Amino acid sequence: MSYFRKKPLEATERPSNLKRELKTMDLILLGLGAIVGTGIFVITGTAAALTAGPALIVSFVIAAFSCVLSALCYAEFASRIPVAGGAYSYGYTVFGELIGWLVGWLMICEYLLANASVASGWSGYMNGFLDGIGLGLPIALRSSFDVETGSYVDVIAVLITFLVTYIVIQGAKKALRLNNIMVFVKFGLIILFIVVGAFYVKPENWTPFAPFGFEGVATGAAVVFFAFLGFDAVSTAAEETKNPRRDIPRGIIGSLGIATVLYIAVTLVLTGIVPYEQLDIKDPVAFAIRFIGQDFIAGIISVGAIATLLTVLISMTYGLGRLIYAIGRDGLLPKKLSEVDPKTKSPKNATQLAGSVSAVLAGIVPLGKLAELTNIVTLMIFVILAIGIIKLRKDHGEPKEGEFRVPFVPIFPIISVLVCVYLMIQLSLSVWIAFIIWLALGVVFYLIYGYQHSELNGE
Ligand code: ALA
Repeated sequence: MSYFRKKPLEATERPSNLKRELKTMDLILLGLGAIVGTGIFVITGTAAALTAGPALIVSFVIAAFSCVLSALCYAEFASRIPVAGGAYSYGYTVFGELIGWLVGWLMICEYLLANASVASGWSGYMNGFLDGIGLGLPIALRSSFDVETGSYVDVIAVLITFLVTYIVIQGAKKALRLNNIMVFVKFGLIILFIVVGAFYVKPENWTPFAPFGFEGVATGAAVVFFAFLGFDAVSTAAEETKNPRRDIPRGIIGSLGIATVLYIAVTLVLTGIVPYEQLDIKDPVAFAIRFIGQDFIAGIISVGAIATLLTVLISMTYGLGRLIYAIGRDGLLPKKLSEVDPKTKSPKNATQLAGSVSAVLAGIVPLGKLAELTNIVTLMIFVILAIGIIKLRKDHGEPKEGEFRVPFVPIFPIISVLVCVYLMIQLSLSVWIAFIIWLALGVVFYLIYGYQHSELNGE
């Protein structure tokens, strides 16, 4: 019996058919397209109001630092094990099946939750917009389940999740192409916000700067960590990059750096216009602009956010469907999930399952909890990957000429593990409990299903 059987590294070494044409700038745009979303448009508000106050800008820097370290590990994996499946495949190759499966299981969770978070964030802007035109929904139908406020289900989040699932099943390629345009729309909106808002900043709103102390800043970092997720998109483009060794780290650090600067600027303006206590709302960026009486611009920002978050949702549903499909193909999830629809060539069953679970989560779990759960799960994946780099070097030696290399191994990976664990500790007990239950379910599922049905059994 071997729960740690491995796919041989050679099995992953297929010659790549992809064209090497991406350069640093393309990678930075790719990264920003995947990174900028609900985090900045929605979570900044609650995080400033409830956890960090105006000092949230420091939280952003801490979270970005942790992401840069993990991103370097991703980049080495991506250039040495260039195969679809991302962290799941890296874990499978380095640590064997059980850990690989657990990474895959955590990734499913990460995507499901992130998907639900974006849907929930989208609904926040949509509800704000509907209110603005006098068509607001009743309380019971506009937010996740909460007896105190009398809300039961976030109907808009549920509907949008199903709609996006339908679009993705029909073939998401076309919709994904929209993403590139949306990157510029997103930037336009954020710059509009910063430029207009800057005139209304009242520096006295920045004091007290850190009303919740350093503890609040650290918890804030663990919460806004979410805003940086998606950078792995850059690492996975290693195969299509002209000079991966040079351009991948530049792409990663460039996109994370630009995102950090944008996030800090938005947070400064946001907390400078609106006293931080009042920011616990679902559409803070538009709210702040309404707060200063610029209703027309607030309208533009709402509509723009609605459009851009939609494309984020499409790419996430797309990615999640593909991930479940890849794990199903390896036999660790039921084979039915790896069936491809003959007409649309998309993994229909996997995408439907992904969409349905996301819809339920988006409908009833509050956004804050969804984002925190996404973070704990992702931080765990980062911990495994950082240790994985040390193991990869031990088992398979140094990277070859032309492959990306994490500098200062094992020091960087060790720092990465420490920072990730530190951020995990900041998250609430309920989030830890949900995380441990999910992990335990993963182990049980592997023992009673995955182990017997794995493709590796046939070999
Ligand atoms: N970073 C992505 C967002 O903020 C997940 O929406």
